[in-house]
Amino acid sequence: RPRVLSGIQPTSGSFHLGNYLGAVRQWVDLQKENDAFYMVVDLHAITVPQDPATLRQNTRISAAQLLGAGLDPEHCTLFVQSHVPEHAQLAWVMNCLTGFGEASRMTQFKDKSSRYGADSTTVGLFTYPILQIADILLYQADAVPVGEDQRQHVEITRDLAERFNSRYSPTFTVPKPYILKETAKIQDLQDPAVKMSKSASSPKGLVSLLDEPKASAKKFRSAVTDTGTVVSYDEQEKAGVSNLLRIHSALSGQSVEQLVAHFEGRMYGALKTELAELFTEWVLPFQERTRTFLDDPAELDRALAVGAEKARAVASETLATVYDRIGFLPAS
Ligand code: TYM
Repeated sequence: RPRVLSGIQPTSGSFHLGNYLGAVRQWVDLQKENDAFYMVVDLHAITVPQDPATLRQNTRISAAQLLGAGLDPEHCTLFVQSHVPEHAQLAWVMNCLTGFGEASRMTQFKDKSSRYGADSTTVGLFTYPILQIADILLYQADAVPVGEDQRQHVEITRDLAERFNSRYSPTFTVPKPYILKETAKIQDLQDPAVKMSKSASSPKGLVSLLDEPKASAKKFRSAVTDTGTVVSYDEQEKAGVSNLLRIHSALSGQSVEQLVAHFEGRMYGALKTELAELFTEWVLPFQERTRTFLDDPAELDRALAVGAEKARAVASETLATVYDRIGFLPAS
């Protein structure tokens, strides 16, 4: 069975709609037919300052949301990145194979470091993509389900896998990004020119999955569109409406063409109202399921411990091979 692997940061507690439609939904779909590994990337989270109690709580909340979204520990391996020390170990090796200039070209780093300024930007933030390379290669993943903003990180992972394989001997599977065009980039509801994101979006443009559903419904109803009146799909001229149509399509299962026909003769308000209802219908049971997992933290921690053990079995085998190929003296 093909291997898939992906990760999500626990930084903000609640996931947002972009995380769900761009990535997590695909994780749920892929878990049955693939050998799937999914993790909450707490090591990545500390590349920017974190309050310890909040980080711990947000890691649990993240795992609970993944279960609430439909991940089933019977069908996938769900774990917390820091529970598997091999991630940090392989990252060191990959740091030593990555060019400084190569790492400097990562656009996410450039965006984030320009927001924080040189003195508050950590070296960890700079090597963030290299830890991600280790995440993916440790599991010999064939495919990495992510949103469009992670494409460059999967591309550099491919480069490093090929580099290692040719410098030593074939060791790593060269992974492919798994990105669904329709949901690869969910845009901010207030500024359809930029992606929805916890750090860049205004509160009104960001739909957080754990927010009061009424508040989210209001955000859909007040989404920024354009001065036209006809509901049609045009990413350039009608970026806001097109974003709403893509979200509707993902949640309702109807194609964009069907939706355009469905809204013929009606104005943007009809689309927004229907989308608000559709989202509420989906999010209420999601929140309910997430809450039940959070209500039993001991059971949640147990499930994560089982996941970590399964993950470690795979990760330690890869790391042992890598250490051997590099020429490290065996410990015993
Ligand atoms: P993170 O935590 O920022 O986001 C998690 C997933 O959500 C996707 N995403 C979006 N998709 C569509 N539209 C949006 N507006 C949107 N915003 C976020 C992201 O593309 C991502 O798939 N570096 C990763 C975490 C990571 C990882 C990995 C991923 C660490 N190791 C190994 C894959 C494989 C990140 O920060 O995702």
